[in-house]
Formats: sequence, C-alpha cells, structure tokens
Amino acid sequence: MNSRLIIALDLPEADDALSLAQRLLPVTPWLKVGLELFTATGPGLVRNLLDLGARIFLDLKFHDIPNTVRRATAAAIRAGAEMCNVHLAGGEAMCRAAAESVAEARSLGRNCRLLGVTVLTSQSAAPGAKDLRGQILDYAGKAKAWGLDGVVCSGQEAAAVKAAVGREFICLCPGIRLPGGSVPLEDQQRILSPREAARNGADFLVVGRPVLQAADPAQTAGEILRQIEDAGK
Ligand code: C5P
Repeated sequence: MNSRLIIALDLPEADDALSLAQRLLPVTPWLKVGLELFTATGPGLVRNLLDLGARIFLDLKFHDIPNTVRRATAAAIRAGAEMCNVHLAGGEAMCRAAAESVAEARSLGRNCRLLGVTVLTSQSAAPGAKDLRGQILDYAGKAKAWGLDGVVCSGQEAAAVKAAVGREFICLCPGIRLPGGSVPLEDQQRILSPREAARNGADFLVVGRPVLQAADPAQTAGEILRQIEDAGK
C-alpha cells in the first residue's frame, strides 16, 4: 500500500495505541510514534506495531550533541523505524552524525529515511525571525546539503521547498485540519486541509487529533485518504 497518510498515535498507553492501530491499519500502514507514546512504552510497543504490519515514523525529534544523536538514530533504526527525525536547529555536525547512522544502516540493507524538523507547525515564526518562509527554505537547503532525505514543514511551505531543493526531497507535513471539522487548532498555527497539503506537494501528511478525536477514527482516516488521492488526480 503506497499510502501518504501517517496517523500520529499520540496516546499515553500501549493498549489504547494497539487497539487504535488495529482499526487504522486497513486504511494506512503508516503510524507515527512520538514523544508521549515512546516515552511511556518504548521500543516494545514499536515491535508490537511492526508485528501488526505497521510502518513506523519514529518522531522523536533528536536535538543533542552529535555523538548522542548518532547513537540515538542507530537505536531508532534498530527499533524498526522506517522514518526518523532530528531538529535542524541542532546544526551541521549533529545532522551529519544522524545521516551517517542512516547511511551505515543502509549499507547493511536497512533503509530508514531521515527528516529534519524546520520550524514547528505550532510556531508562526521562530523567536526573533522575521521571514519564516525564508528560514524554512534555508533549513531545507541545509538539510539536503547535510545528507538528509527531507524535511518536516507545513503544507503551506511544501511547494516552495520542492521548488527550491528538488522534487525528490521529501516534505512531510503535519498541521492538517479537515475543512469544517470540529477539532480546534489548539497549538497548531500553520494549517492546511489534506487536499490543499497534497496539492502543494506534501509527500506525507501527518494527522493526529482530527483522527484520534473522531467518533470513528478509521472512517475519518479513510475520508482524509480519499481527499489526498483526489488531490493527485
Ligand atoms: O494532532 P495534530 O494533527 O495537530 O498532530 C500533529 C502531530 O505532528 C503531532 O504528533 C506533533 O508532534 C507532530 N508534529 C508537528 N509539527 C512538527 C513535527 C511534528 O505538529 N513540526
């Protein structure tokens, strides 16, 4: 299944995450395990999700000294992540260290894509920054130069990132809200609908609360998937 939809399992407990995963996996294989769930449940839960047939984006947004990030990235890949990420704000040496871990794993036949977080979609501008889009494009260029496979950015910036850095460079976009949906923005600032994000060139869309808070999460995920597929027609 060549799905572009990733559902964020932003839940505190393994049992809830596993039962939701079972409902969602017929719709999309991609699940995101982030800080809350991984801190609570660790690699054991990732193994359980892999056993169910999931593909895992391990969204731990590493930001530490290069040696620590190199080793943490290797551990994420060993845990079974097919995608993982670092904060580009961590700088060149840190990002290159993570990319080296990914390259080493690839040479052993284990493929994981490494993405760089540009500016969180919960931020309308980084502190002190005037030109948010310029900052994101600058980060995207650096991410490519430093050996990363793509960036995490909002759907609002995906087209500009692709134009600046190349079509093959992955744009993974959170900050997705359904038009007319009942989920409030809460902490998200730079949002788009699934259709708009897909049209803008997002390779992957990450959706959390609009699915998690839906009366029928699998049905809502299916609706989002249809919007993404319609956008590609
Ligand atoms: O609930 P919602 O759809 O807003 O969730 C978005 C998900 O994407 C969250 O799990 C959040 O951690 C993640 N994310 C984000 N912005 C980034 C990177 C990841 O919102 N830049």
